Amino acid sequence: MRNVTYDNITETVVQAYASTADGRTGDILALLIRRLHDFVREAKLTPREWEAAMAFLARAAASTDEQRNEFILLSDLLGVSALVDLIDGRRDKNASITTLMGPFYVPKTPVILNGADLSGGNDGERIVVYGRIRASDDEPLGGAQIEVWQNAPNGLYAVQDPDQPEHNLRGTLHADEDGNYAFATAKPISYQVPDDGAGGELVRAGGRHCWRPAHIHIMISAQGCRRHVSQIFDAGDPYIDEDAVFGVRGPLAVPYDQQPSEKELTRFADIHRPFNVANVDFVLARA
Ligand code: BEZ
Ligand code: FE
Repeated sequence: MRNVTYDNITETVVQAYASTADGRTGDILALLIRRLHDFVREAKLTPREWEAAMAFLARAAASTDEQRNEFILLSDLLGVSALVDLIDGRRDKNASITTLMGPFYVPKTPVILNGADLSGGNDGERIVVYGRIRASDDEPLGGAQIEVWQNAPNGLYAVQDPDQPEHNLRGTLHADEDGNYAFATAKPISYQVPDDGAGGELVRAGGRHCWRPAHIHIMISAQGCRRHVSQIFDAGDPYIDEDAVFGVRGPLAVPYDQQPSEKELTRFADIHRPFNVANVDFVLARA
């Protein structure tokens, strides 16, 4: 390692990490070093640009704490989180597509009855979301646990807003024995991911915006299956084709303005009218 040159530096660094004890970590490290060096070579990164990049990462670190991880947001805004999820989803081609969990999930939210109305005192139009949950081998997932969370009509999630009740627009329900689930809620609205940190700098530099189309988060857990993380998007949202974090998947974009049929009005007779309906089935990958 005495004479490190432009030509041998990449192999020198890869070799320096060749004794990495964990095999997978060693493989990832070697790939990372090679790609990182290729990137620096191809971009012909100048010392000034390198300094700016280090300062940018330091600013991301400065706005990261227990509540907020700016590095996850940068990963989201660069499509890396979405790519990791898309790679993971290729393991079972028969399962429904998944998407990002996002930062606003809270475990152990209050249990509500299957078919209940989550909308509480929130303004906004009501929507009934319903469907069936089964495994990729077609077995209905009776009793599957469904956790739901979304933002309020002011665009904020309960965890971001001390003025909302602790569990506003969140809850946990269980599918019936055939895997059928239903809940009513107040329609969520589009909102912006935090833009006051390094993530915002990145988005502005790229001439983009921080908006996400309206969506309802849903996470399904059932015995014998992989945990299924999804979002149900409003297909009519103005940001549906330009989600800041690249989370929209075709099958998860459904119209939020669908009028209920006579059959649906009868099935959801307990829900206060008027309401729209969104019918979304989920197929979970086997564990
Ligand atoms: C969300 O879905 O709430 C979200 C996802 C990624 C980044 C920020 C928010
Ligand atoms: Fe969200």
